[in-house]
Amino acid sequence: MDLYEYQARDLFEKYEVPVLAGIVADTPEEVRAAAEKIGGVVVVKAQVKTGGRGKAGGVKVAKTPDEAYEAAKSILGLDIKGHIVKRVMVAQGAQIEKEYYFSVLLDRANRSYLSLCSVEGGMEIEELAVERPDALARVEVDPLQGIDAAKALEIAKAAKFDDETAAKVADVFVKLFDVYKGEGATLVEVNPLIQDAAGNIIALDGKVTLDDNATEVRHPEHEELEDKDSADPLEAKAKAAGLNYVKLDGQVGIIGNGAGLVMSTLDVVAYAGENHGGVKPANFLDIGGGASATVMAAGLDVILGDEQVKSVFVNVFGGITSCVAVAEGIVKALEILGDTATKPLVVRLDGNQVEEGRAILAAANNPLVTLAAGMDEGADKAAELANA
Ligand SMILES: Nc1ncnc2c1ncn2[C@@H]1O[C@H](COP(=O)(O)OP(=O)(O)OP(=O)(O)O)[C@@H](O)[C@H]1O
Ligand SMILES: [Mg+2]
Repeated sequence: MDLYEYQARDLFEKYEVPVLAGIVADTPEEVRAAAEKIGGVVVVKAQVKTGGRGKAGGVKVAKTPDEAYEAAKSILGLDIKGHIVKRVMVAQGAQIEKEYYFSVLLDRANRSYLSLCSVEGGMEIEELAVERPDALARVEVDPLQGIDAAKALEIAKAAKFDDETAAKVADVFVKLFDVYKGEGATLVEVNPLIQDAAGNIIALDGKVTLDDNATEVRHPEHEELEDKDSADPLEAKAKAAGLNYVKLDGQVGIIGNGAGLVMSTLDVVAYAGENHGGVKPANFLDIGGGASATVMAAGLDVILGDEQVKSVFVNVFGGITSCVAVAEGIVKALEILGDTATKPLVVRLDGNQVEEGRAILAAANNPLVTLAAGMDEGADKAAELANA
């Protein structure tokens, strides 16, 4: 899960990383009040989960509360790379002397952590990495040792900080690693980390990605950081129903049992789609082993709610849950959904009690349902129907 800048700022504060005062606001009036409360020069900053806010006009300096009000009016509603600004953070203004860059992240390829650091922060770091790779230090961080005082100094030296500044920034690097480890993050990035006119080191902007796998067991409190408003509505609905669903950009809805079978169903449908106008799978949905009628209904309900979907391919292998239970599930699901079920369904059943299961579907004789003998045949039929 990616966090908003203000959420990252709050986490930084918790770990004593130096940050400036910041107040979130959703309206120009709230921004004016926040600017009054903070006092002096403030910076109004768009809260969107994408980079390059400054260049897009999403970061504005305001000398007075009235200026902050005007800045908020121009920033709220702004479209930054497809993200509409609904919220801003009013931050205390800093007197910037120097802008640096620091990050620590999970390095999957090397099964390690990696720290990136530069005395030339502020600009887009991706550009710096390509144009002048020497200016960006890359230091491997042993996951068992982390960033202690010595490691932090090594990072600062690799980035060519002078001795005096190195000691100051190293202290902040240690605290930023505390955030990384303490919160179960896969990325903590500060751009810019600044030195102000008084010589203080301050994290002026923060990006944090939390490991979703850490939420359930170690960090249940992270649940609150989730941005439910901007989640895909279909994925949110599926999540609420306890379904394992991922929305994709295609026309053939997919329901299967077992992640492996569902993955290969996606491949087979994508392949079949090449003969039918290039239609593609619309989603991943694994209804799991004990697929009851209600689970089947919930799954169908989510998939049929996807406007892009033109047909559905149900590909189930009966195991502990027999094909009889699955067939009954489909029949009951279509009953539960009633008139809302309007798209054709291709059903391929195999495995335990397959004959009995097929007989149940045949007897129900629902005009929406087509039975397929095999997986390839079913995928082809579903793709054909989606392209009709
Ligand atoms: N509190 C502040 N006081 C003074 N200047 C600021 C403040 N916050 C940001 N700035 C200036 O604005 C620039 C852009 O801000 P920031 O890094 O937060 O956004 P960005 O880099 O455009 O966005 P992103 O990091 O999402 O790409 C900074 O490099 C800094 O020069
Ligand atoms: Mg930035």
